[in-house]
This record gives sequence, structure tokens and C-alpha cells, in this order.
Amino acid sequence: MAGSFADKPRISDVQGVLAHPDRFGVRYRDGDADAGCRELLLDAIPLGALADVVKTPTYVYGLAHVDRAIDDLAAALRGADAGICYAVKANDTHAVLRRMADRGVGADIVSGGELARAVRAGIAPDDIVFSGVGKRPDEIDAALGHGIASINVESGAELAVVAARARAAGLRARVSLRLNPEISADTHPYLATGLAEAKFGVPLDAAAPLAKRCLEDPHLELVGIACHIGSQIFDADPFVESVRSLARVVEELRALGASLRRFDLGGGFAIPYTGDQAPMDLDAWAAAVRPVAADLGLRLIVEPGRLLVGNAGVLLVRVLYCKDNGARRFVVVDGAMNDLIRPSLYDAYHMIVPTRLRQGAKDVTVDVVGPVCETGDFFALERSMPEVRPGDVLAVLSAGAYGATMASTYNTRPLSAEVVVEGERFAVCRRRQTLEALLARDVVDPVFEALPAT
Ligand code: LLP
Repeated sequence: MAGSFADKPRISDVQGVLAHPDRFGVRYRDGDADAGCRELLLDAIPLGALADVVKTPTYVYGLAHVDRAIDDLAAALRGADAGICYAVKANDTHAVLRRMADRGVGADIVSGGELARAVRAGIAPDDIVFSGVGKRPDEIDAALGHGIASINVESGAELAVVAARARAAGLRARVSLRLNPEISADTHPYLATGLAEAKFGVPLDAAAPLAKRCLEDPHLELVGIACHIGSQIFDADPFVESVRSLARVVEELRALGASLRRFDLGGGFAIPYTGDQAPMDLDAWAAAVRPVAADLGLRLIVEPGRLLVGNAGVLLVRVLYCKDNGARRFVVVDGAMNDLIRPSLYDAYHMIVPTRLRQGAKDVTVDVVGPVCETGDFFALERSMPEVRPGDVLAVLSAGAYGATMASTYNTRPLSAEVVVEGERFAVCRRRQTLEALLARDVVDPVFEALPAT
């Protein structure tokens, strides 16, 4: 598959930031040009100074950038009957969810945990949709209890469980059928969800039999159809293709007597990760899909994750050592694959720039690696960047989506702190995990017992 993931940009990361101030949430301070060193700002906060205070590794999110991303999408949808349900999995920090709630953005959740977070942040249940191929009965109960807008079911077996739980609770479950339009989008294979061999959704020809089951069951209300074809998709064509094939299914289900209201197109909108990638053309996307939803008289729902938060966040890491083994030069930093796994897992390109850019620093080609004991633990390979020294703080860009949410404690490394910035002020929005808290999960003196007699 053509991998826009591993493709190297034609310009250096620093050039990318200089050429596009704020596209990646950060800019170099203008007034510093004569000072010998330019500070990297996120909003009005110099990130090097912030790192000295909050320590590293730390994720930093700019809420103004989140606002801008919401505004851009809302502008593309203006005038349409449409709703935005933010995919919580991209970044589930309370402060970010709170901003979504304040802006009237709903949530796309994939677990009972995400449901609890969305509700705690004040997102209205009527603006919440529940996706995912493996919802547990207790998670379905919680969704029913809150009365969320739609449980997007992905199989006949799941539909049966939703119906049974709704009957037991004396409720009517609002469901959408998640269809798999069997469309190939140009993205990393792990992120393509709309192919025939993917585990997601049901084939288009399974829609009618499932819809009939909904129509026959008083505890099910079929409110819409849904799909999600993949993630980090720049091109509007696969979205348009899937809208068209879903539109045919809508006609088919209406002929059966279904009164559908919602047309959920999922997420997948791409963001730039390199200095020479332009942002996705949302207006072109909207111009192509809006008329189809409007003609059908359905409310268009989108579930963007990355688009709203990806470029709003950076991961700050500090250089521990510089080493040269003859074949390669390494910059060893204090963040690792457990903090940000995307480069290791998807070959993802994340720009990396110094938070203090020394004038005249010469470019060198390095591997930026972490302390984890795996060769796959890297943030960048053969990257040309200004020479750095131990103690320097680097910003790994475009880390606002699928960064902290995919972190682990591999190598007994506590989870990073997370910070939000507004103008000249910052707040820790998720505390760094303490080593004590991490160790406290272990039962150091386990008591063995027999299973209860059956
Ligand atoms: N809706 C559904 C049903 C999804 O499965 C996803 C993402 C989204 C919405 C949001 O997609 P987005 O707009 O963020 O592309 N960990 C990977 C991304 C996995 C996305 C999984 N599903 C990464 O780091 O690139």
C-alpha cells in the first residue's frame, strides 16, 4: 500500500515549522532573531521554559488550536444538518473533552470507560455514539442507561445482545448499523477499516436482514447507518464512494419501512505530519458529501479524532546523550515508544524540532531514540536536524492524537504528564504517574486460594 506514513518530506522539520507557523501548533518567536537562539512557542508559552518547570517527557496541548480545528470543520459543515462526534480515543484528557463539551461537540466512544469520561466532561448523552466491534454487555447497559444517541452495531450477534439488554431494562435501544462499504483508502494497512477483510462492520448485503430484525423488535429503534473507512485519509474520493454506496442501502432500508434519521460517516480526516503536506481540503470533502446526505434528508454525523487534536499537541522530551557508533549518530532522549508508539508501530513520521533553535547550528543526520530496550524504540531514523546537546529539549510535533492515549508503562516507565496551554498560561491537566502509583498495582504478597466449589 502506498504509505504516506514513511515518506520523507522534502524540507527539514525546522523549515516546515518556519514556513507554516501554527500549522503544527507551534512557531519560533520572531523577536528572538538577533538573540542567537529562537524559542519555540505553543500559543504564547516558550516550550523550553515550560519543560524546565513540568519536567519531561510531557505532552502539551494548545486549546486554541483545538478551537481552530473545530471552527474549520464547523465552517465546512455550516448550513448543513450535521453533528460532530469527537472520537475520544484520539485524546481522552478531561481538559480536551471539556473543551469539546463547551463547544457543543459530541463524542464517539468505544468503551464504557470512554463513556464515563465523556459524560463526566459534560457531553450530552444525546450527542454520544458508541462504536466498536466488541462491546461488552455491561458497556451496552451503561450506554442504554445514559440514553445515548446511537449504539453503532457491528454484527447480528451484537444486535441480539443489545436487544436482550434493552428488553431486560424495559428500554428501547437506538441503534445504527455500521456497514463496511469495502472501500480501499490510501493509508497504513493497520488504519484501513473499510476493506472486505477488516473485522469492522457488516457487509452491505447484511443491512436489510438486520434492519428487518430491528423493525420486528419493539426494543430496537433503527435510527441510522454508519461507516468508518479508515484513518489519516487526505483524499475526498473514498469518502464520496462510501457515501454513495451507503445511500443505496438507505433507499433499500426505507423500502422496508425503516425511518432512518442519521447518516454517520465516521472519522478518518487527515492532518499534515510533515512540512510539505498541506492540510486536508475539508471544503472539497464537504462539497462532495453534503448534497448526498441532504438529498436523503438525513442528519450527517462525523467522528473526527485526529483532525481536532492531532496538531494541537506536542511531546516534550529532553536529550540525555548524544552517541556515535561509527555507522550511525544517535540522539538518546528521555521519552520512548511507551510514551509515543506511532513511529514504532506505524512507521509514522513526526517532525522533531528543538525548543531553543541556536542560530547557525549545523544540520546533522541522526536517529532520535528512547531508552527502551528495543531497536524498534525510535522517534526518527536518519533525520536531518540541527545539532543538539545533552540537556536540550526537543518537541515531537503532531502528538496530540493517539499519543498519550496509546502510552504504556513498558520498561516500568511511569505515564507522562499532560499540560494544556491557553495564551500565556498553562495547567497540568493529567499528573505524571508516580513510580509509587505504578508499583502499587503489584500485589507483593499474593494470597493463593481455591476456586469456589461449583
Ligand atoms: N470513528 C471510528 C469508528 C473509528 O474507529 C475511528 C478511529 C475514528 C472515528 C476516528 O478516526 P480519526 O478521525 O482519528 O482518524 N492509532 C492510530 C489511529 C487509529 C484509529 C482507529 N479508529 C494512529 O495513531 O494513527
